[in-house]
Amino acid sequence: MITLSNIHKSFGPQEVLKGIDLTVDQGDVVAILGPSGSGKTTLLRCVNFLERADEGQVQISGLTVDCKHARKHDIVQLRRKTAMVFQHYNLFKHKTVLENVTEGLIIAQKRSKADARTRALHVLEQVGLSDKINAYPSMLSGGQQQRVGIARALALNPEVILFDEPTSALDPELVGEVLAVIRNIAREGITMIVVTHEMGFAREVANRVVFMDGGSVVEEGAPEEVFSRPQQERTRQFLSRYSSDWSYVI
Ligand SMILES: Nc1ncnc2c1ncn2[C@@H]1O[C@H](COP(=O)(O)OP(=O)(O)O)[C@@H](O)[C@H]1O
Ligand SMILES: [Mg+2]
Repeated sequence: MITLSNIHKSFGPQEVLKGIDLTVDQGDVVAILGPSGSGKTTLLRCVNFLERADEGQVQISGLTVDCKHARKHDIVQLRRKTAMVFQHYNLFKHKTVLENVTEGLIIAQKRSKADARTRALHVLEQVGLSDKINAYPSMLSGGQQQRVGIARALALNPEVILFDEPTSALDPELVGEVLAVIRNIAREGITMIVVTHEMGFAREVANRVVFMDGGSVVEEGAPEEVFSRPQQERTRQFLSRYSSDWSYVI
């Protein structure tokens, strides 16, 4: 249902994505692993045209967009099918939790205020924040703020949610609550692409793991295969750095 074909992206002379091909089926949870600077964030941003790739195609449930020639209309259509959860939450600081979630529903999806509120209350309950709907982001912990970010993405009912290291800005004791929320959403069958350094989480929740390095996909496969029997030396080296924290607790 999601196909990325031959995605190339350079920043000036630096080629950051060197022809990425990736297919994600409906309901898949794909974890993207890889060292810092390998192009993971750029790849996610190319999916919804926060960055425009220089070459390649993005296809999401029947809509095919050519990166080089995409027009505004195509990009708007594509963005409607995606939602992103950012590393640093990217919430509106002067809006309440409820308003942060209803904003996209009212502005982008043109839903009525009442309808947006009903939907927002439902997803805020899913992420365990029913008691915080009138709070402002500054009054919340990082874990709670990121759960608002997840509720905001979920509210849009997208074809795919793109997570960019959703727990990497959090204090260690807050990571578990956010991973637990993501795991619950995954169980509902929502398609997700998750860039993460949480290896235990990737192993447990993802049904496919993609290892990127230097702007290319080096290896991909079922988590059991990639974690237990990595085929490539680069994958082995990367995973060995994490071998001690595969058993996280939530
Ligand atoms: N807007 C940008 N302008 C210039 N270089 C960028 C930009 N965004 C990312 N890069 C560079 O692209 C490379 C890949 O970055 P990124 O996609 O953020 O990697 P990752 O998320 O895997 O750490 C890095 O070398 C980074 O410095
Ligand atoms: Mg990144």
